[in-house]
Amino acid sequence: MSSNDLKINPYLAVSESDETDNGDETEHQLQLALAARDEFLSIAAHELRTPLSTLTIHMQMALRQIEKNDPRIFSKEHLEKIFQISHRQTTRLIGLVDQLLDVSRIMNGRMKLDLEDIQINKLSTEILHRFQDEANDAHTPISLNIDHEMHGNFDRRGLDQVLSNLISNAIRFGNAKPIQVKIYTETDQMIVEVKDSGIGIDQKDFCKIFKKFKKIGESNPSSGLGVGLYITRQIVLAHGGRIYFNSQLNEGSTFTVRMPLTREIKSEFISKECH
Ligand SMILES: Nc1ncnc2c1ncn2[C@@H]1O[C@H](COP(=O)(O)OP(=O)(O)OP(=O)(O)O)[C@@H](O)[C@H]1O
Ligand SMILES: [Mg+2]
Repeated sequence: MSSNDLKINPYLAVSESDETDNGDETEHQLQLALAARDEFLSIAAHELRTPLSTLTIHMQMALRQIEKNDPRIFSKEHLEKIFQISHRQTTRLIGLVDQLLDVSRIMNGRMKLDLEDIQINKLSTEILHRFQDEANDAHTPISLNIDHEMHGNFDRRGLDQVLSNLISNAIRFGNAKPIQVKIYTETDQMIVEVKDSGIGIDQKDFCKIFKKFKKIGESNPSSGLGVGLYITRQIVLAHGGRIYFNSQLNEGSTFTVRMPLTREIKSEFISKECH
């Protein structure tokens, strides 16, 4: 377990406190853990509240029109719009709850991989298709360059999350500039590169971004929980792989994932990077 986990997990900090003689240090760790928990609760509550508020407002507006017997409410276009909004907001809620469950599973050591043979070009094309609306809204073109007929032994949901989190960040922080996704093999490894030309990351924040509930910068436009990269890294490590990035402020970032095409657990990776 890393020192990052110690700082952010209040339960761990409390149990560690029994074993140390240094009262001040323990008190300090406990304060940090409690502050991190409070910050997390406030981010999570805010993020969960946003889609719920949007849903409630639209439901109230629809109810008011029904009460007034406004015939427009029953038109196909209107009903379609209401269901589209509801679908988007409930999908967002499910995504947030799933992320929280993933973090909880990781922290409790309960992350499980179901390995299967995956057609990587099929999966990555599907994922890109899923992000098309979001990319269009952000005026961000995305290109996918992938070796044909690539297969690998991965957990489907895990690989989906790795690609989705990196693409979602590239769109979110990409400043509406083109994004390039490249997937290829190198001997027995799958390499994924997601390159954006967006806001980039300040060098002083390099080691923060893989921590859970971390959003960097005062004016961070992210509407997320700050857990995408934390989950991504844990999934990559569990597959025996590595994740790293190059980034320059205001120039953009390239995130690279290397995962063995066939499973080989290398647990020593777990404690080595950025602590
Ligand atoms: N491609 C990128 N360019 C610039 N900054 C990035 C990029 N990817 C991540 N970051 C920084 O790292 C932080 C952590 O990323 P992470 O994906 O964990 O959280 P998030 O995107 O803010 O929220 P979530 O993924 O939970 O919806 C981001 O808030 C952002 O500050
Ligand atoms: Mg993210």
